[in-house]
Amino acid sequence: MHSDGHAHRITLAASDQTYECEAGDVMLRSALRAGIAFPYECNVGACGNCKFELIEGDVDVAWPEAPGWTAKDRERRRYLGCQTAPRGDCTIKMRPSAHYAPKHAPRRVNGTLTERRAITHDIEEFRFTLSGDMPFEPGQYALLKLPGVNGQRAYSMSNIADGIEKPRELHFQVRRVANGLGTGVLFDALEIGACIDIDGPYGMAYLRRDVKRDILCIAGGSGLAPMISIARGVAAEPALDGIKLHFLYGGRTPRDVCGRDMLEALPGWAERLHFQAAVSEVVPDSETAWDGHVGFVHTVAETLFGDNLRDMEIYFAGPPAMGTAIQRALIALKVPFEQVHFDQFY
Ligand SMILES: Cc1cc2nc3c(=O)[nH]c(=O)nc-3n(C[C@H](O)[C@H](O)[C@H](O)COP(=O)(O)OP(=O)(O)OC[C@H]3O[C@@H](n4cnc5c(N)ncnc54)[C@H](O)[C@@H]3O)c2cc1C
Ligand code: FES
Repeated sequence: MHSDGHAHRITLAASDQTYECEAGDVMLRSALRAGIAFPYECNVGACGNCKFELIEGDVDVAWPEAPGWTAKDRERRRYLGCQTAPRGDCTIKMRPSAHYAPKHAPRRVNGTLTERRAITHDIEEFRFTLSGDMPFEPGQYALLKLPGVNGQRAYSMSNIADGIEKPRELHFQVRRVANGLGTGVLFDALEIGACIDIDGPYGMAYLRRDVKRDILCIAGGSGLAPMISIARGVAAEPALDGIKLHFLYGGRTPRDVCGRDMLEALPGWAERLHFQAAVSEVVPDSETAWDGHVGFVHTVAETLFGDNLRDMEIYFAGPPAMGTAIQRALIALKVPFEQVHFDQFY
């Protein structure tokens, strides 16, 4: 059974707050569209941060095998907000948290693929022109509905939304994943001129424009895009004049390293914007010599910045294993939690 194509009213238990969930939308994203601070992180069923309890009503679950949804959750009528659609009016229990209040209400638009270019042997940039505007903060991501692929895929924007830019463009830098369904379609099937549904912006690891601390951006592998967006945001933000930004890119081998040319193109390069890279495998590949840092990014960051990390605003993006290692290192160094911002790429 599926919902009947109408909007449904969702009531938050223990408050008089309600919001509307339109046909084809889910509990989480319709709440954010209404300005409600529904906690979440990945939007793709992996992290489990968007759970709510169903008090009254019926729902459809888009992806029952989602890794963030456990057998215990089912027993307790707990669902993932990012994977659950109402079949009729519902009452749910969920604790809004101000941290998740959307800076820009997410919206659904169409995006036409206009351009693509290679960045490394396995990362490409894909540019979409949107049918309608989508304001976003540097570091945020959007959800792409790729033809023939179940669910959506999250990709971070690498450009910035400042200035008057019409029609709006979104640039994504995507790493090809072996046997990946979404990246398979994006790299091998989607043609220039193809039009897809794009929903955004999402994500909490955006540039804090009001914080006057030097910045460290750490990008691992596919985590390039949001860190490039943040660097571009810093270069373009008058309120952050004089703030230094250190960019650290971590790859497996020298041919994975990228991002430097994008920073070099920005005003303030070498004066207040700096780039370093590290590789985790010492043996250079056949194409590229290597005289940079060797090691995992969290240890390289520790060696380079040490106790100064406590006085920096730190942004990072990349695979969960890297995220966990960086968080551990920062906790050991007593870096205040409020100064650390990240979205993990499940
Ligand atoms: C917040 C965020 C930002 C990201 N930003 C980037 C980026 O800038 N660049 C980049 O290269 N990668 C990024 N990723 C990773 C990206 O979203 C994909 O996971 C990756 O490209 C692999 O996708 P795939 O379809 O090729 O692989 P697959 O292995 O086919 O799919 C993996 C992903 O799809 C989801 N998924 C699988 N099946 C379903 C289903 N039936 N319904 C719903 N979801 C499903 C999984 O949760 C998982 O996230 C980001 C991920 C997150 C969470
Ligand atoms: S936000 Fe729903 S599982 Fe991550």
